[in-house]
Amino acid sequence: MDEKVSKFCSWEVFQSRESAVDYFVNQDLPHPWNRAICAAGRVVGSIAVRSLTGCDRCRGELGYALASEYWGRGIATRAVTLAANYAFIEMPHLERLEAVVDVDYPASQRVVEKAGFVREGLLAQGEANRRRHF
Ligand SMILES: CC(C)(COP(=O)(O)OP(=O)(O)OC[C@H]1O[C@@H](n2cnc3c(N)ncnc32)[C@H](O)[C@@H]1OP(=O)(O)O)[C@@H](O)C(=O)NCCC(=O)NCCS
Repeated sequence: MDEKVSKFCSWEVFQSRESAVDYFVNQDLPHPWNRAICAAGRVVGSIAVRSLTGCDRCRGELGYALASEYWGRGIATRAVTLAANYAFIEMPHLERLEAVVDVDYPASQRVVEKAGFVREGLLAQGEANRRRHF
């Protein structure tokens, strides 16, 4: 329910406890690689890697979000670094890990850069035209 977080994400702020629980049960729990980001003994965010299918099975896509009260402490960078390492171990079919971040969101670009991702270009079509590809 944190609009600062959802602003640059593909999902909307949950409007009720029920819709949040429904998302956790039907989207988060069945997800093959989704981890909680924990700090100070509580869940403060999440990070996920989605393996593509078919010919693109060797590619994984990374997504992450952190509660705004925890921003600016290096937590996301640590989570992305750990997730990138574990994803390659736990999904040995992966050969590359990709992150698509908004061109208007330098903090998120900085996170993946600090975690070792290399900027590859700017996606140029439709909704993606505001997004950088690492
Ligand atoms: C993006 C996000 C994960 C960052 O989390 P975080 O824990 O604050 O990130 P970190 O502290 O590890 O690193 C942030 C970096 O961005 C930098 N930064 C922050 N605001 C910035 C700005 N306006 N311009 C440039 N750099 C900025 C910080 O200085 C830091 O870099 P540094 O260590 O070199 O100083 C968090 O803001 C978030 O959850 N946002 C909403 C969801 C989202 O956008 N997810 C990504 C979608 S793929």
